[in-house]
Amino acid sequence: MTTPFEKVELRTERLLLRPARPGDEPDLFAMFSDPAVMRYWSSTAWTGIEQAHEYIARDSKVLAAGESLCLGIERMEDSRLIGTCTLFRISEQCRRAEVGYALGSGAWGRGYMHEALLALLEYGFSELGLNRIEADIDPRNEGSARSVERLGFKKEGHLRERWIVNGEVSDSAMYGLLRSEWPPRK
Ligand SMILES: CC(C)(COP(=O)(O)OP(=O)(O)OC[C@H]1O[C@@H](n2cnc3c(N)ncnc32)[C@H](O)[C@@H]1OP(=O)(O)O)[C@@H](O)C(=O)NCCC(=O)NCCS
Repeated sequence: MTTPFEKVELRTERLLLRPARPGDEPDLFAMFSDPAVMRYWSSTAWTGIEQAHEYIARDSKVLAAGESLCLGIERMEDSRLIGTCTLFRISEQCRRAEVGYALGSGAWGRGYMHEALLALLEYGFSELGLNRIEADIDPRNEGSARSVERLGFKKEGHLRERWIVNGEVSDSAMYGLLRSEWPPRK
């Protein structure tokens, strides 16, 4: 039997991936209220700390229900929560899930997300038995496209006007990664 989602902890060289918990609110708020982080996100930037409380409560519910594997990314060096990464829309029948992720802008450019996603995707393929993982990326979000391409994802399509966030209409570049393509070649 796989570990219940709320108990999953993944360690990498520099990071601990674990569920967000009370105490993480300031780090979550700093990240999700930052316009640079939220530029291509599927919802608008946070405006109040209560959204961080709601986020933690919601994550704990969906983790307990086994709906999504939503993990905070803690940097072990200073115990700060520098990001989040999630496997969601998990289909048991099709052994498929979608991946979502964000890093606080102060942590960009150091390979933290690459390191976190290597661990999360490995868990998805090996422990959860997934066969396919998808990513839906705004075509203008070059950093995010580089992140998934570095992991071996292939661009499979372009969906027009798929999102409307705060009145702004945007397209989706759809990426997919198969178990048979994992792990990525160095
Ligand atoms: C998408 C996002 C996570 C990418 O962040 P990132 O810092 O570029 O990604 P990584 O942590 O994997 O770091 C990779 C970068 O660090 C560099 N790097 C430095 N040290 C490194 C190391 N030890 N290992 C790997 N890469 C390293 C790489 O060269 C790369 O930079 P490049 O893309 O300019 O070549 C970040 O831009 C983000 O959070 N954006 C806002 C939220 C968002 O849009 N999420 C995606 C929605 S689809």
